[in-house]
Amino acid sequence: MNHIKIKKMDPKSESKTVVLVAYKDGAKASCKAAKCGCDESLLKFDRAVENKSIKGEAKEALFFRDVMVDDFENLLILGIGANKTLTSESLRILGATLVKNLKKEKQTSASLCLNSLQSLFKDPRVAGQALAEGVGLTGYSYDELKSKSDKKDEGKFSELFIWSDDKKYLEKFMEGVERGEAIADAVNKARRLGNTPSNLMTPKLLAEAMHEGCKGLPIKFKALGLKEIESLKMGSFLSVAQGSNEEPRFIIMEYNGGKKTDKPLVFVGKGVTFDTGGISIKPSASMEEMKFDMCGSAAVFGAIVALAKLKAKVNVVSLVPATENMPSGSAIKPGDVVTAMNGKTIEINNTDAEGRLILADALCYACDNYKPEFIIDAATLTGACVMALGTLYTGVFSTNEKVLRKLLDASVQTGEKIWRLPLAEEHVTDTKGTYADLSNITTQKSGGASIGAAFLSCFVKEEVPWAHLDIAGTAYNVGGRLPYHPDKGASGVAARLLVQLALNEI
Ligand code: BES
Ligand code: ZN
Ligand code: ZN
Repeated sequence: MNHIKIKKMDPKSESKTVVLVAYKDGAKASCKAAKCGCDESLLKFDRAVENKSIKGEAKEALFFRDVMVDDFENLLILGIGANKTLTSESLRILGATLVKNLKKEKQTSASLCLNSLQSLFKDPRVAGQALAEGVGLTGYSYDELKSKSDKKDEGKFSELFIWSDDKKYLEKFMEGVERGEAIADAVNKARRLGNTPSNLMTPKLLAEAMHEGCKGLPIKFKALGLKEIESLKMGSFLSVAQGSNEEPRFIIMEYNGGKKTDKPLVFVGKGVTFDTGGISIKPSASMEEMKFDMCGSAAVFGAIVALAKLKAKVNVVSLVPATENMPSGSAIKPGDVVTAMNGKTIEINNTDAEGRLILADALCYACDNYKPEFIIDAATLTGACVMALGTLYTGVFSTNEKVLRKLLDASVQTGEKIWRLPLAEEHVTDTKGTYADLSNITTQKSGGASIGAAFLSCFVKEEVPWAHLDIAGTAYNVGGRLPYHPDKGASGVAARLLVQLALNEI
């Protein structure tokens, strides 16, 4: 893991590369900072723009080595897009492009001047946060299991110095940077949990890793074991866990940054540390990807860690039912009937639809033990959602328009794209069982993502606002669409969305 620190530029800052930003509509960088050394670099910059060697499009980059512009040896010009279309996401992508190119050019540090940016990004805190998120998220790699990995940050891109002539803007920008760094760090922690293979991330180890991640932060942490889960009568959750040699855990994380009277926001994350499908076993092709079936849990963990780090004035609870889904002599069999914590009976007609079974009890627990302002769950729940939306959009389901609106707002702010899919009474009817109250699958051949959501809705008390995020397509292996996401491995999706959602409540 290569940690990149963003600092204010001072006379002692040393970097060989200056970074300037080009706009698609030709707006010129104006940068007159002495130390920033932009006078000469601007000439190069102007020429590059005039020659159209760089058009100013987002993700574009042009590196000049050994050009000796003022104090700097090298110049990196980055495109950002057209003036009118700039958003926080443009800065996240700029940060990502910056890191990727400086890594490629083997630079260890660089200096970025904000003078040309600040008139376009009116809120310095929002801008600083977005840039730092882009930088921090792009710095992540998962290489701790490679014996030859150079674990030291030495020789890697590790420092970005920021300069602005406007001291007030710079101060506020750096406050945003601090937030962005904390958030990116929490997302990277979540990614690490997702990337760790299932032999090293059993339910017990997941609980330990989360406990470790909460240390030093004002988060109350508890992990319930088998006996305690049994006494809570979580028959649905336990039916999934019974096939595994690994004991389940029910993880409870509470952060009380708000007033005593503030209702908590409750986040619930699917924590299946490996999903073989159980007796309804999955085909072998790509089964290794099912180590990522706990990415929902990683998201709710990342979110609470970031909020605690930011000292956000809000009360948050993150709940994680953690288990393996295995076939064995003790595994649940198709047709078996179990009873969830709220007394509803469930016919398990496909043991591979296990996510909804473990979330069912977690949702009951949330409703019974807290008076939630709202509940949001995040889960790699259905292949149907991947088919419907692909890897760019997370599916969101809710019958509560207010919560949905809040999620959509947070989605725009964070760049984490979500798309509403239907959840209707008819879908709830589809989940009725033949021999029990409910069945965990239906005879319907399509619409599986909605039916999964409908099943979950049966475990949320009517008066509690709730939304479900199906992250099956967005949690891992999302490809190069977003430059700050790794092509392969966990994306950490939904953590930033939940953080922003919570921050918007303050
Ligand atoms: N973990 C899977 C969902 C999944 C599929 C996540 C593909 C990521 C990529 C889930 O437990 C599952 O197996 N769901 C079944 C449900 C079906 C049996 C109703 C599915 O989607 O096929
Ligand atoms: Zn499954
Ligand atoms: Zn699963």
